[in-house]
Amino acid sequence: MTLRPIIKTTRGMPASDGAGVKLTRMLGTPDLRVLDPFLMLDKFHSNDPGDYLAGFPPHPHRGFETVTYMVEGRMRHQDNKGHEGVIGPGGVQWMTAARGIIHSEMPEQDDGLMSGFQLWVNLPRAEKMKDPGYQEFSEAQIPADMREGVEARIVAGRTSAGVEGPVRGVTVEPFYAELRMAPGGVFEEPVASGKTAFIATHSGSVISGGVTLGEAQLGVYGPGGAVRIEAGPDGARVMLAAGYPIGEPIVWAGPFVMTTEGEVRQAMLDYQQGRF
Ligand code: FE2
Repeated sequence: MTLRPIIKTTRGMPASDGAGVKLTRMLGTPDLRVLDPFLMLDKFHSNDPGDYLAGFPPHPHRGFETVTYMVEGRMRHQDNKGHEGVIGPGGVQWMTAARGIIHSEMPEQDDGLMSGFQLWVNLPRAEKMKDPGYQEFSEAQIPADMREGVEARIVAGRTSAGVEGPVRGVTVEPFYAELRMAPGGVFEEPVASGKTAFIATHSGSVISGGVTLGEAQLGVYGPGGAVRIEAGPDGARVMLAAGYPIGEPIVWAGPFVMTTEGEVRQAMLDYQQGRF
């Protein structure tokens, strides 16, 4: 199987979101606007409560899904459709905003390290106005594909060893996993050739697709049938993501991601008039 090369790398860009939470935007920047079906990837990582305590107070979303994965610390999600939950390290909140949700994402801690990722996954036009949904899984509910020197924690999708993540019902058939890699550990895995795929490092370094990626760097995979990731001398923690592109226009205005200007205007109106 042809190994996929990495055809583009980006270093994250400092950003601030919510009530001033400092983060590193790794996708959804001028350098890398969109990676269909993925819209945005933020890494948050801070030891300073002043950076994160204010969190992400209530705000709307329409037209896509937000996926929060915690590496360290605890985060509470609460929304106006009655979903609520707290995840800790290794847990995920997969929130399907679809036609509209108002939610808050607040740190459930006063001090210590808070670290993780938020990924935005687009929805096809036909699903942007479906009912909102919410799936939450703790670390204990997420299975691991254990290889020599690598613990691959499978949030979504299925590995060649038959380990399947718990997230269901996502049309782009995402694969999303955290790889916890010992020094020199290797993870090689088929990825359907039609899928968009990327790797984002949390810490440590890896060699993949002909390039070396250090902390908080993202690599975009080119064509091929599989990916091979080898951890550097200090090991690594990385997120590996893949999914089928949607191939539709993207009209993005803040928390609303639709396919036409008219749909975005409607989203703003619906939100202002309390129809979320
Ligand atoms: Fe949000």
